[in-house]
Amino acid sequence: MENCLEQGIPTIEEAKILLLEGQRLNPGPWIEHSINVGKAAESIARNCKDLNPEVALVLGMLHDIGIRFGVSYMKHILHGYNFAMEKGYYRLAKICLTHSFDCQDIRTCFGRWDFCNDEEFSFIKNYIESAEYDDYDRLIQLCDALALPNGICLMEKRMVDVALRHGIHEHIINKWRATFENKKYFEEKMGKSIYSVLPGVIENTFEM
Ligand SMILES: [Fe+2]
Repeated sequence: MENCLEQGIPTIEEAKILLLEGQRLNPGPWIEHSINVGKAAESIARNCKDLNPEVALVLGMLHDIGIRFGVSYMKHILHGYNFAMEKGYYRLAKICLTHSFDCQDIRTCFGRWDFCNDEEFSFIKNYIESAEYDDYDRLIQLCDALALPNGICLMEKRMVDVALRHGIHEHIINKWRATFENKKYFEEKMGKSIYSVLPGVIENTFEM
C-alpha cells in the first residue's frame, strides 16, 4: 500500500506497532479480538472484487484502538476516533465510531453512555446519523460480530456473548437485524457464505 497516510490508514507494520502499544498500555482480550476482526475482514475482502484486503485487515485490527486508554464502555469509540484523527488516519477514525452502529441509530449500541458528557454524546449522535457508510464500515461491523478473542465463530454465538456482558435492551433487535443484513450483503457480493472463507468457525463455535 503506497501513500498510506494520504489514504487516512496506517500501514500493516504500523498497525502491528499500535496494537503492541495498546497491549502494553491496557492488556486484555480486546487485542486477540482485534487481530481476529482484522483477519476475518481481510478474508472476506479478498473474496470481493472491489475491496482491498490490506485496508480491511488494518481497519479490523485497529477498530477498537480506543481501548488502549482503558475499557470505558462507549467512550472507547471516541478515544479511538480522536487518537486516529490526531495521527491523520481519518478513515480509521471513521471506523472507530461507526463499528458500534450497524444501523445509524444511536440507541442501538451496547454499553453505557455514562462515561460521555453531553457534548461528546451529541458529537457521536450527529456523526453517526449523518455518516455515509461504505463497504469498510459494514465489513468491520460484520466482523466485530464474528470475532471472539479465541477466533471466529457463528455470529449468533458472538451476539449472545456481547449481550451477556453488556446487557440488552429493545433497540438491540434492530442492531442485530442490521448485522444480518450486512452478512447477506457480503454473501451476495462474494456469491458464497461468509463462513466458507473464515477458518476455524466450527471449532470455535462448538468448543467446550
Ligand atoms: Fe470490537
